[in-house]
Amino acid sequence: MIRTSSAAPHAEGLPVGAEKRRVVRAMFDRIAPRYDALNRLFTLGLDQRWRRLALDSIGVGAGDLVVDLATGTGDLAELACARGARVIGVDSARGMLRGAQRRGMRAALVQGEVERVPLPDAAASAVVCGFSLRNFVALDRVLAEMARLLSSGGRLALLDVDVPRSRIVRFGHSLYFERVVPKLGALLSDRAAYRYLPRSVSYLPPRDDLLAEVRKAGFEAVEHRTLLFGTAQLITARRTST
Ligand SMILES: C[S@@+](CC[C@H](N)C(=O)[O-])C[C@H]1O[C@@H](n2cnc3c(N)ncnc32)[C@H](O)[C@@H]1O
Repeated sequence: MIRTSSAAPHAEGLPVGAEKRRVVRAMFDRIAPRYDALNRLFTLGLDQRWRRLALDSIGVGAGDLVVDLATGTGDLAELACARGARVIGVDSARGMLRGAQRRGMRAALVQGEVERVPLPDAAASAVVCGFSLRNFVALDRVLAEMARLLSSGGRLALLDVDVPRSRIVRFGHSLYFERVVPKLGALLSDRAAYRYLPRSVSYLPPRDDLLAEVRKAGFEAVEHRTLLFGTAQLITARRTST
């Protein structure tokens, strides 16, 4: 089993394995009520633009069956529904799913782990996953589950944060992400959660390793797009024909 990152050393004190699963679920249950508002605030609304871009880049529309893994409060699910797709959202945190339910969208919502989604093989034409890769305990298992869920040629879109490559951008971004965000997060929501947020980036494998993991799981045409000077990333891919 490959932990979320097989290469990057995790920031000291971050949980791993079963403890990580427990901590992450409890944390998202706690922050669920203000999750959407703080996302919009911290990204100045860019998070929704990136979700739209993710759906655009794999052409989600009517006729698709989209599985939104780690759907949270359903931002991606709602946008996919608005395009006429049928959507199934899966998440382990009951509090986050309650937020998704409150939207009153047509998506089916399932409480469960993304490593074991209760759907048959090749059920989906598209799988999406927003800002969650670093929260998984074993990324290779989740990627394998994404491949299992997709029909041959099915499309994948993964969004997450990233570490900017430019030293200047990295400096400015780290001031914001590691100082401002935790302080505001503590004031408006939950201190521990918004301390974890910037540190959790260290769970992500370096870009090349991450793309290699996606290919290894059974994907081709793997593409990486850098968003906002490298502070976020979008990976798209196609399920290899079997
Ligand atoms: C940062 S939120 C992202 C939510 C949403 N996708 C978005 O774009 O805002 C991460 C989500 O991953 C979920 N999550 C983390 N590990 C999970 C797992 N193993 N199975 C299911 N959901 C998981 C959390 O409960 C949380 O809702």
